[in-house]
This record gives sequence, structure tokens and C-alpha cells, in this order.
Amino acid sequence: MAVKKKKVKMQLVKGMKDILPDEQLYWNLIRKKVENFARNYGFSRIDTPIVEFTSLFKRTVGEDTDVVSKEMYSFVSPGGDKLSLRPENTASVVRAYIEHGMLNLPQPVKLFYIGPQFRHDNPQAGRYRQFWQFGFEAIGDDDPVIDAQLIAISYYILKELGLDIEIQVNSVGDSDSRAEYIKVLKKYYQDKKKLLCKDCNLRLNKNTLRLLDCKSKKCQELAEEAPQIVDYLSEGGKEHFMAVLEYLDSLDIKYSLNPRIVRGLDYYTRTAWEIFECSSKDGKLNALGGGGRYDDLVDALGGRPTPAIGFAIGVERVIMKMQEAKVELNKNKGFDIYVAQLGNEARKKAISLFEELRSQGFSVTENMSKKGLKDQLEAADKKNAKYTLIMGQKEISDDTILIRDMESGVQEIVDYRKIKMEIRKRLDKNIAKNLKLKK
Ligand code: HAM
Repeated sequence: MAVKKKKVKMQLVKGMKDILPDEQLYWNLIRKKVENFARNYGFSRIDTPIVEFTSLFKRTVGEDTDVVSKEMYSFVSPGGDKLSLRPENTASVVRAYIEHGMLNLPQPVKLFYIGPQFRHDNPQAGRYRQFWQFGFEAIGDDDPVIDAQLIAISYYILKELGLDIEIQVNSVGDSDSRAEYIKVLKKYYQDKKKLLCKDCNLRLNKNTLRLLDCKSKKCQELAEEAPQIVDYLSEGGKEHFMAVLEYLDSLDIKYSLNPRIVRGLDYYTRTAWEIFECSSKDGKLNALGGGGRYDDLVDALGGRPTPAIGFAIGVERVIMKMQEAKVELNKNKGFDIYVAQLGNEARKKAISLFEELRSQGFSVTENMSKKGLKDQLEAADKKNAKYTLIMGQKEISDDTILIRDMESGVQEIVDYRKIKMEIRKRLDKNIAKNLKLKK
């Protein structure tokens, strides 16, 4: 007797997410929007592998950041390589820029991506362990107009997706002025150690800037009183930042200055910004995205010194906000034709007719496994079909087909051989009627 296998119900891995068909409408919309912006602003698509050497992220994102020290999915490959699932995409894009000699192309090299990232963070609303980002990177130019344009892209994409957005912007200085500022900051916190949370006590020496964006209430109060980096920028750094702000003023962008925007990754220099949705239902300000300059990164990865800037936006968070804001989706564009059938003979003919219409570019749909006409007409209605073609035994014998106008319910018998002409005639009439209505 065969041994019955025990049934085991498999589950989704914690922090991961299935993207079901209903939600794909949002994904398609976002993808399309990102691709359109990329085209207009001259960014080309890049896809880098999900797996990279762990050292890439240690050297760029930074060993002491939460992302690298606590959240990376790292492993040793069967060949003995120390690898990690990418926690973000900028480091990989810069690696690819150097590795493929893009330094020799006309600068700036403008690249965009959309893909999954992995961080072993505590899962909660809007925080996953596999999440998607789309991002734009412009490598090889430090003109402040590029900074303003990147900020503008991050702002307008989300505006056009129906969200109310505010940009918070800061300058984190070049490496010299930042080193000077970190000294001042350490001094400020020296006699306040006892008031800091446990994490910030650890961060004080290794990752001092992060004390400014800690979420604990006490640390936030201390950060409000802390010295501000803008007062420690070099003359050149100040000028650059002012020029960025002037460009932003000349664009219609809702932005504010926030001296506590320091970003969670080590590679940032000068302009840094985060992107927030203003009227979130829960009142919590969770960043939808962020970006900044990373002028030292190409150099740090072995290329020649090359200024660069970019941003990334979390797709799941954007969709969450779109759902909260009840953004209307072009849900059901519908079809011109639904092919219905009654009986085995009719079904054989109907599947061929469907395939013929589809391959010739008609907007056509079906549910061939349904048997009753009532069910099929209901399905045609749900799918917003304009006309249903109905084929039964009688129509097969007469070499005819029924065309049902789904709006009026009127049915006409037509010669099967003239079916395409009859449909086109009706669709053309519809177009003419709609144009008249619009006038
Ligand atoms: P980031 O601020 O670490 O920047 O991530 C950007 C966005 O990714 C966040 O604002 C958020 O929307 C989304 N995100 C991050 N972690 C999670 C998570 N666990 N679950 C869901 N969404 C998440 C970067 O990654 C930089 N590479 C951005 C950049 C590009 N800077 C310059 N160029």
C-alpha cells in the first residue's frame, strides 16, 4: 500500500511579499511612468545582478551602517566567495560604470533601474526584507542643475502618480567639511551621552551623523539643538547648495530645508534629500525615497575621481500611499469583442476565430471553458466588452454568427465570412459617435 505523504502547508518567508494580479495595475503604472521620465530626461536602463561581492557594499554603503552591519543577506558561495544580496543599487551601478569603461563615454552617464533589493530589517507596514526600488543615477557631472533635475524627477514622478509630495533637502558637505562638522557634533554630544538611546551611544563614535536622524524622542530633541552642517560648509560647498536651491525655487517644487537629513548610507556628499508624502493617513512620515551626491564613490571603487548623484524610491511604499490616497487607476479599459460559444462544435470553431481575431490585432477576449451563454454574457459585461460574438449549433449549420451589442442588447445575425468587416463597421461608427459627443 502506498504511504500517504503528510500534508505540509507552505508559507511565504517572513518579510517577503507576493505581488498579486490586482496590485500589478499599480506596478504597471509606476513602471510606465518611470520609463517615460527616463526617456524625456535621457536616462538609459541598467540591470545589475542581485548578487555582488560583500566587499562592494562594505566599501561604499559603509561597514558601520545598519544596512551593512545588521541587514545584509550575506553568504559564502559553494566556490568560497563572500557574496551578498544587494541591499541597494547605487554601489552596483558605480561598479558597472567603472567595469564597463563608461568613464570614456560622454558625461554625465545617466542610468535608471527598477528591481528588488534585500535588507534583513524588522518587517512592518511599508518595510519588507525584499522590496523594490526604482532609481536614477547621473555619473560624471557636478553642475548644480543636475542636482535640481534629479530632485525634480523624484518629485514629479510621484506627483504624477497622484501623491502629495514634499522634498526635504540638506547639504552634508564635502568630505573635508563633513570631517570638521563631525568633530563639532561629537563635542556637542559628549556630555549628553546618558540621554542618548542605546543605539546612538554605539553610533556616537562610528556613525556620528546618524544621531541626527534617530527616531527616539529624546535623541530627536537633542538633535534639534545640535549644531547644523550648513554652518560648516566650505565656500564652494555653500555656493553649490545655494545654486541647487535657486533652481528648485524656479521649478514648481514643494520643498523645505531639513538640517537633519543625513541619509543612512556612508557615501553621500553635498546635496542630500528625502521624499515624503504629506497627508499620510497615519500621520507618520515614512520616507518614500531619498538620494544625494556621492562624489567620492567612483574614486573609492578604483575609478578616476568623478562626481555623481542619484536617488531611489521604494515601490511598495509608493503603492501603499497610492492606495491610501485612493488614486484612481485606469482599471478596466475593456475589450472590443468577446467570443462566446455554445456546444462542442461551436467551441472548436470559436477558439480558432478568437486566435484569428487576436493575431490580426483585434481587442478580443474569451472564457472558452464556460459552457452557459448567461455565464459568458456576464463575463463579457465584467470585461467591458463592446460586442459579443455568439456561435451555437444553428450558426454553424447556417455559416452565420450573432453579434450582440452589449450596451443596447440588440443582436444581429451576420454572414460568418463577413464577421471582421461587420465588426470594423460597428467600431468605426462608435468612434464617430464618440467624436461627435466630444465636440
Ligand atoms: P535608501 O534611503 O536606503 O537609499 O532607500 C531608498 C528607499 O527605498 C527608501 O526611502 C524606501 O522607500 C525604500 N526602502 C528602503 N528600505 C526598505 C524596506 N526595508 N522595505 C521597503 N522599502 C524600503 C538608497 O537605497 C540609495 N541607494 C538611494 C540613492 C540612489 N542614493 C543615490 N542614488
